[in-house]
Amino acid sequence: MCGIVALILKEGQASPILHEALKRLEYRGYDSAGIATLYDGKIFVKKDAGKIDEIHARLNFDSIPGKVGVSHTRWSTHGAPTKENAHPHLDCKGNVAVVHNGVIENFLELKDELIERGHRFISRTDTEVVPHLVEEGLDAGLSLYDATVNALRRLKGSYALAIISTKETDKVVCARNESPLVLGLSDYGTFCASDIPAILPYTNKVIVLNNGEVALLEADKVTVKRISDGVTVSRDAKVIEWSIEQAEKQGYPHFMLKEIHEQSTSLRNALRLQEQYLDLIATFLDRSEKIFLLAAGTSHYACIAASYMFSKLARLAACPVISSEFIENYGDSVGIDTVILAVSQSGETYDTLKAVDYARMKAATILGITNVVGSTLTRVSRAYIVQQSGPEIGVAATKSYTAQLLVLAQIALKLAKIRGKLSQDEIDELKASLNRIPDVVENILETCEEKVKEIAIKYSKEKLFLFLGRGISTATALEGRLKLLEISYTPSLAYPAGESKHGPISVVEDGVPTIFICPNDETRKEILGNIMEMKSRGAKIISMCEEGDQKIKNLSDDVVEIPKQIHPILSPIPYIVPLQLLAYYIAVEKGLDPDKPRNLAKSVTVP
Ligand code: AGP
Repeated sequence: MCGIVALILKEGQASPILHEALKRLEYRGYDSAGIATLYDGKIFVKKDAGKIDEIHARLNFDSIPGKVGVSHTRWSTHGAPTKENAHPHLDCKGNVAVVHNGVIENFLELKDELIERGHRFISRTDTEVVPHLVEEGLDAGLSLYDATVNALRRLKGSYALAIISTKETDKVVCARNESPLVLGLSDYGTFCASDIPAILPYTNKVIVLNNGEVALLEADKVTVKRISDGVTVSRDAKVIEWSIEQAEKQGYPHFMLKEIHEQSTSLRNALRLQEQYLDLIATFLDRSEKIFLLAAGTSHYACIAASYMFSKLARLAACPVISSEFIENYGDSVGIDTVILAVSQSGETYDTLKAVDYARMKAATILGITNVVGSTLTRVSRAYIVQQSGPEIGVAATKSYTAQLLVLAQIALKLAKIRGKLSQDEIDELKASLNRIPDVVENILETCEEKVKEIAIKYSKEKLFLFLGRGISTATALEGRLKLLEISYTPSLAYPAGESKHGPISVVEDGVPTIFICPNDETRKEILGNIMEMKSRGAKIISMCEEGDQKIKNLSDDVVEIPKQIHPILSPIPYIVPLQLLAYYIAVEKGLDPDKPRNLAKSVTVP
C-alpha cells in the first residue's frame, strides 16, 4: 500500500500542496517519498528514502517549481526502500513521470520486452515499466491520454497511477484498477489521490474512480472514461462532510475496524506474490532436515495453522515455536540442516530476531515472511516474502494475520506440488479456493457484522470466555482469544477442544460463553461431542459454523454462519473474521479504545 497525489492548478505552485497532501497519506506507507513537477517544459524530481519530513529537511520539497505535479509516499513491495526505487519513476528521456500504488503482476515480462527494445531501467520496481510503455506511445505520436491507455491495456495487476509528461504540460492522466483513487474538484484546480484526507483541506467535492477507469485532469475539469472501450463515464461529484480525522479512518471510528474491513483488499494483494519467491522458499523448505516456524503473538498462531497446512498438503512436518522460547527449547538441535521460517508482520520483533540471529550463527537457513520491506528480518533472511498488507496501525493484528495465512497456504501448496503429494485436480481445486478467499471475506464482512455486534453486546459483561477448536481451528481459537484479551482485557482461555476435558472444563459453569470454531472438516463430528460436553455443564454456546449446518445451530445459543465455498484447510482465514469483529465490538461496548490497548505496542522491539 502506497499513497499517491497529483494536482493541476490554474495558478500557483503545486509542490507545497503535494507535500502537505502526501503527509496525510503517510499512514499508507512511509519508507520513501518523492514529488515530480512540470515547469518550463521540463520535469523536476525530488525523491529519496526515508519519511517525508526527513526527506523534506534534506531536499526541501516546497522549492520545486510548477503548477502541475505528481507525488508518492511508498510502502515497498518490489525493491528495497532506496532513492532509486522511490517514485516518481521516469522514462528513458525524462519526459514522463509516473507514481503508482499497487502491484503490476506481469512487470517482469514487460521489462524484458522493453529492455530488448533498448529501454534503460534504473530501479527494481514493477512501476518503472509504465513510464517506458507511455514513452513508446508518445514516440509513436500519440497524445499523453492515448499513450497511457495503450500502456494500461498491457498491465495485469492492481494500480492507481498518475502520469505527467513534458509533451502535454497542462494535463495529468490517472487510472485505477483495484487500488483506490479519488478525484477532487475545486475552483483553483483538480486533484487525484489515493484517499480523501489527502485533498480534504483543499476541496470536499470528490469523484470516486471505479476499477477499470481512466481520468484526464485539466485545471478546470476532469473527464472519466472506461479503459476497456474508451466510453465516457458521467458521474456527479460527492460532497464529503467528514472531518480530516474521520477521513483518515475513511469514516470508521477506529483503525482496527477499518483494517478488518480492508481484508478483502489485503488478501487480494497477498495473492499477487511473485511465483519465483514462493518457489524459492518452498524449495529451501523441501530440502531441509528440520523446519521451525518462528514467531510471536498473532504471527505464532499463523505458524500453528501453517504447520497443519504443511503436513496435510505436503506431508511435511514443521514445528511452530514461540520466538522467546526457541533458543532454550530447540537451540541445541539447530544446525546446517535446519531451516527457520520466521514470520513477523513488523520484521522487527526482538524475540524473533534474537532467535533468528542465534540460528544464523549455527548455520541454519533463514527464510522470512513480513509486511515491511527493508525491515531487519528482510535483511537477515536468505529469501523472504513481503505479504503486501500495507501499514497496519491498530495494535491488534487483523489484516496482517489473514494475509500471513494466505501466504503460508500458497507456500504449502507449492510444497505439495514440488513433493508430488497432491493430484493436479486437488491442486486446481485448492488454487480456485485460494482465489475465492477475498470475495468470501468480503461477503462475511457484508453479512455477519450486525449479527456479531448483537452477540458482542449480549455477552460484553461476561467475566470469562472460552475459545475451542480442533485441528487447524485450534489456531483460530487461539487468535480469537488473543484479539479479545488484548483489546477488551477480558480473561479468556483457548484450547484444542479435545484438551478441554484434561483441565479447562473445570472453569465451566452456568452461563460461561464458550466459542466453538466448527468448519465442516474432519473434526466436525468430534467437535459436536465437545459442544455437548460444554452445554451439559451450562455453558452458553456461540458457534462459528458453515452456512446451513443445522446440527451445530441446534446446539448453539448464538451462531455466525460462514459461506461454504472454501476448502477446510483455508478455513482459518474466513473463520477469524467474525472473532476479530467480536473482540472489536466487545471492547467498544466496554468503552475502551481498541486502537490503543493498555501496556501494548505495535512492534515489540525490546527483550
Ligand atoms: C497481535 O495482535 C499483537 N499485537 C502481537 O501479538 C503481535 O502479533 C506480536 O507482537 C508479533 O509481532 P510481529 O508479527 O510484528 O513480529
